[in-house]
Amino acid sequence: MNALAQLSRSSIGKKWIVALTGLVMFLFVIGHMIGNLQVFLGPEAINNYGALLHTSPELLWIIRLVLLSCLGLHVLFALLMVIENRKARPVQYAKKANVQSKLSTRLMAITGMVLLGFVIFHLLHFTSHSVDASYAGFHDEKGRHDVFRMVVVGFSNPVYAGFYAVAMVMLCSHLSHGAWSWLQTVGLRTKKVADESSRGARILAIVLAAGYLSIPAAVQLTKFGRGYVAERENAGQHAPSPEPQISPAK
Ligand code: HEM
Repeated sequence: MNALAQLSRSSIGKKWIVALTGLVMFLFVIGHMIGNLQVFLGPEAINNYGALLHTSPELLWIIRLVLLSCLGLHVLFALLMVIENRKARPVQYAKKANVQSKLSTRLMAITGMVLLGFVIFHLLHFTSHSVDASYAGFHDEKGRHDVFRMVVVGFSNPVYAGFYAVAMVMLCSHLSHGAWSWLQTVGLRTKKVADESSRGARILAIVLAAGYLSIPAAVQLTKFGRGYVAERENAGQHAPSPEPQISPAK
């Protein structure tokens, strides 16, 4: 705790905290996208994956707490860095390079704030089902939570699908600059590979954002999964009543 406090007092310490917490979240974003893309394999694959994630509640909560701590530290120290930079800079910019670096920092702060809003909404949407409580009652034929139906129903709403799309564009911009800046912080962005690393960071960010974006886009543009949802809704309507009505003998 003391080491963290000491580290957080120096500029380079703050940079390292932002870089390390960013790396943890970046790895999560890669894994989460691969997991989510199973939606294209159909309800069986994604529902099975969802059930697998919930087999150990203790492990799930440890992962959630690690991610939440990383998110909190990342936002806090990034904001502290922005404040520190603002205090340290003279009012007038002498060089064009300084103006450009200010723009990219400002862009990081804006895309970061939108992403923070997105993550809060996303958790209320698909994890706690606070946005639509009916999602909690979606179960497939095997009694598992019907993640496939939830995702299709969720993205059938054009406002939600549109918001996810905007957030994914922000994700692309944030990761593209973030990965580049991460390489710089950890000293891997040498002059020799500067162009390649910038290009690599941009390509990775585009692939990730496109992977995520493909799901709401498929639901909105190709009506992906709507047939399955209609089937499940029908099955729900025609399901036998759990308690048969027995009329008392007269
Ligand atoms: C099309 C895009 C996305 C889809 C379809 C999607 C889908 C889901 C689903 C279904 C869950 C609930 C898992 C469960 O509890 O069964 C979830 C949880 C979560 N998602 Fe996403 N997600 C998307 C994008 C993102 C992005 C871009 C991020 C991060 C920037 C993200 C971060 C999270 C987090 C942190 C959780 C909570 C994990 C947990 O505690 O269980 N998601 N997502």
